[in-house]
Amino acid sequence: MTPTATKPAAAVSVLKQYIGGKWVEGSAGTTESVNPADTRDVVARFKNASKADALKAINAAQIAAAGWAKTPAPQRGRVLMKAAEIARRRSDELAALMTREQGKILSEAKGEMAKGITLIDWYAGEGMRFMGASAPSELPGNFLYTIREPLGVVSIITPWNFPWAIPVWKAAPALVAGNAVVLKAASSVPAMAVEIVKIFEEAGLPPGVLNLVLGEPESFGDTLIEDPRLKAVSFTGSNAVGQHVHQLCGKRGAKVTCEMGGKNPAVVWNDADLKLALGGVMKGAFGSTGQRCTATSRLILGEKIYDEFMGMLLAQVKKIKVGNGMDPTVTMGPAIDAAQLETDLKYIEIGKKEAKLLIGGRRLCDGELKHGFFVEPTVFEGVKPKARLWQEEIFGPVLSVARAKTFDQALELANDSPFGLTSAFYGQDMTLAMKFVEGMEAGMVHLNSPTIGGEAQVPFGGVKGSGVGEREMAKDGLHFFTEQKTVFVDYTGQSRQSNLY
Ligand code: UN1
Repeated sequence: MTPTATKPAAAVSVLKQYIGGKWVEGSAGTTESVNPADTRDVVARFKNASKADALKAINAAQIAAAGWAKTPAPQRGRVLMKAAEIARRRSDELAALMTREQGKILSEAKGEMAKGITLIDWYAGEGMRFMGASAPSELPGNFLYTIREPLGVVSIITPWNFPWAIPVWKAAPALVAGNAVVLKAASSVPAMAVEIVKIFEEAGLPPGVLNLVLGEPESFGDTLIEDPRLKAVSFTGSNAVGQHVHQLCGKRGAKVTCEMGGKNPAVVWNDADLKLALGGVMKGAFGSTGQRCTATSRLILGEKIYDEFMGMLLAQVKKIKVGNGMDPTVTMGPAIDAAQLETDLKYIEIGKKEAKLLIGGRRLCDGELKHGFFVEPTVFEGVKPKARLWQEEIFGPVLSVARAKTFDQALELANDSPFGLTSAFYGQDMTLAMKFVEGMEAGMVHLNSPTIGGEAQVPFGGVKGSGVGEREMAKDGLHFFTEQKTVFVDYTGQSRQSNLY
């Protein structure tokens, strides 16, 4: 056999569901996850959960919930601390698995590992700070305070683009708050989900406190959204599915948070440090192959720097090396699967009718690339506000550029979107920067930094079509997974004479 005909010699993992502390085989059809850089490489194979399996996972969580809720919060935090320690030890190995299964380049996978570990660290500490508030009463001899309590059983539904960080940033606060969790991870990244569970298992999480369901709603329907025992649902994914999750939870009065799409603008103003802005736009638009809800997909340039910046941008885009993310010289990996590749190419065709294609636009099939889902980094200019390219989330490495004559026009263009997740402004003028912060309709604003990323200690999430429900990360992410109880203490020992409303 010639080397190009040889299948990559990595093992296929046979995966199971994790229910009540046991690894059990699913009872519906079989799914495989493949390496998106080389589809000859099957990463994992598993049997999908059926509805009965999903119900078993909820049962197991229900049984474990009370004991975990009674475990002192600092002790719950210590389990997370241990999990962070294990993840840190296994970080390089898991980053390599992530690159193999998800396709992002190894340095990005390492960055994602680091971010998830920081999140576990942060929430581990919250075990020591699982506090309510106290308040003075209107009445003498009275005292008011609040406590936070876990909800019970919650479900977590996560996408494929951050197979480690997103499940972790939902599970860590849910667990430290004392909930039992049913995690449903995306079918294209099951091996990473299994490793997450193994880490928490090794860290000493009692059986049933974290359960893993693999498979697609085709095999178990809306069980993990609708079951009345699920007190909250935390979802990250597309808008269409998010709306569905939100509606079903709304109907039965369950707590819900949906983190959905984005169409994030970066404004590079006339006085910006162009080199700095270039780095940020490149990372934002083409990092993770544009497969982030925080990706920079719209670029708005001040008219005076338009030509210069576009020249710099195109030169840089030309330098992107697309390929298998395990190769350290590669700077952009593949699309996750055939469907996403098709979406990217479909939007590129739409874009060709709406605007001017400047670079990219094709599937890459040369040599080894033919085995993967590779697309060129693509830039369109002259994109009009109502164009689909400007309005719709693509989730690929496609950047749409427009020019603005005035700052107000730039802000207006930035806000011309059904989404409002994140945004970036590059410029030196403090007054304009603060006007951008004030006027931008987004959950997150970055000044002189890319639209992507977040930090454990500050809220993450968006407005408009980008999100409903509580923010994630920080205290907000923890509070979502709790109820508050307000306690009124009367130590006068006397029956109340006044009417207090
Ligand atoms: C990031 O930009 O580092 O699905 C995080 C997403 C977001 C996470 C982005 N929920 O892309």
